[in-house]
Amino acid sequence: MGKIKDNVIGWLYRHILKPVFFLMDPEKVHDLMIVAGRVLGSNSATRRLTGLTFGYQNPKLTQKITGLEFKNPIGLAAGFDKEAYLPGILPSVGFGFEEAGSITALPFDGNERPWMWRLPEQQALRINYGLKNSGAANIHNRLKGKKFSFILGISLAKTNSEKTSHVQSGIADYFESYKIFQDVGDYFTINISCPNTCEPSPIFAQAENLDLLLAKLFSIPKTKPVFVKLSPDLAEDQLDRILQVGNKYPLDGFICTNLTKINKFNHQGKGGFSGKAVEELSNQMLAKVYKFYGGKKIVIGCGGVFSAEDAYKKIRLGASLIQLITGMIFQGPQLIGEINRGLVKLLEKDGYRNISEAIGVDNKA
Ligand SMILES: Cc1cc2nc3c(=O)[nH]c(=O)nc-3n(C[C@H](O)[C@H](O)[C@H](O)COP(=O)(O)O)c2cc1C
Repeated sequence: MGKIKDNVIGWLYRHILKPVFFLMDPEKVHDLMIVAGRVLGSNSATRRLTGLTFGYQNPKLTQKITGLEFKNPIGLAAGFDKEAYLPGILPSVGFGFEEAGSITALPFDGNERPWMWRLPEQQALRINYGLKNSGAANIHNRLKGKKFSFILGISLAKTNSEKTSHVQSGIADYFESYKIFQDVGDYFTINISCPNTCEPSPIFAQAENLDLLLAKLFSIPKTKPVFVKLSPDLAEDQLDRILQVGNKYPLDGFICTNLTKINKFNHQGKGGFSGKAVEELSNQMLAKVYKFYGGKKIVIGCGGVFSAEDAYKKIRLGASLIQLITGMIFQGPQLIGEINRGLVKLLEKDGYRNISEAIGVDNKA
């Protein structure tokens, strides 16, 4: 029954809504989705209705990771819900968690437009928002004291400004938003991999700078899990040094990966590529990170997940959790239920009782 429902919604999305959306400015469609999500998430009747339309649960998908109970492994990646407006509705859409942001200490109106291009043939997006958000204090004020029955990650990035382009000013900037968000959200992600800032390349992707940043963040008592989000474009030795730094701190894990700068399609414009343009690079990196730590740190796989098979591949390479955005934009919101339902089928086919048994099985010594 659930599968038929997903098929019908998927068909309606791909044949009616998507053709209309794809004629519209992608930024406008994104804004519209946020408004719709806020409205639907604002009262229990619309939340329940959305849950009946999209929801799917199965105990084979539940996991306790870093002390948090994940109902399923599929999360909304950072960048869709920049202002954290959607934790009310996303569980009803079927997500197991979300990462809001990236949020920066100071507000930023975004890079020069355009911010987003669709590349339908490549099943990718090109993104150039440059960490647009209304700033940590504003977003924190709106969220503080609210309780969500949903895992909310807070992605923190460095304010996109030349004033924070030095190591010490950059660390102070991250630390400010880190302190502000101590009492809101279930985990932190330290985004050191935004490809669209005023710097030629992210300065905290250099291991010695990351070392200083983590030393500062962990200089105050840790209140929740902390992840670092990596770029898929790191050179092998750069990644190695970052992973060694990771070993020095009580870091919980890594997100593999952010957008890639590699422009395989000679697309004119600015920004980083998502979706199928980054999938292979992300998978390679997640496999390396999982192998390096031998499962001692959590890896969250992100990049190009359009189906249950895509998600399962990342899990078998070592991902404990999955994040996505582009797949949902191309396939529709029923994709989340489809992936979760499909994952259960794949786990059953391989004889696993719980998703945790499949993590890293294709990537053991
Ligand atoms: C519209 C959009 C905005 C994004 N903004 C952010 C961001 O603010 N912070 C971040 O860490 N990643 C950001 N990303 C990257 C995604 O979180 C993700 O790493 C990337 O898109 C690969 O996943 P996907 O192929 O499922 O989209 C953004 C991606 C998109 C599509």
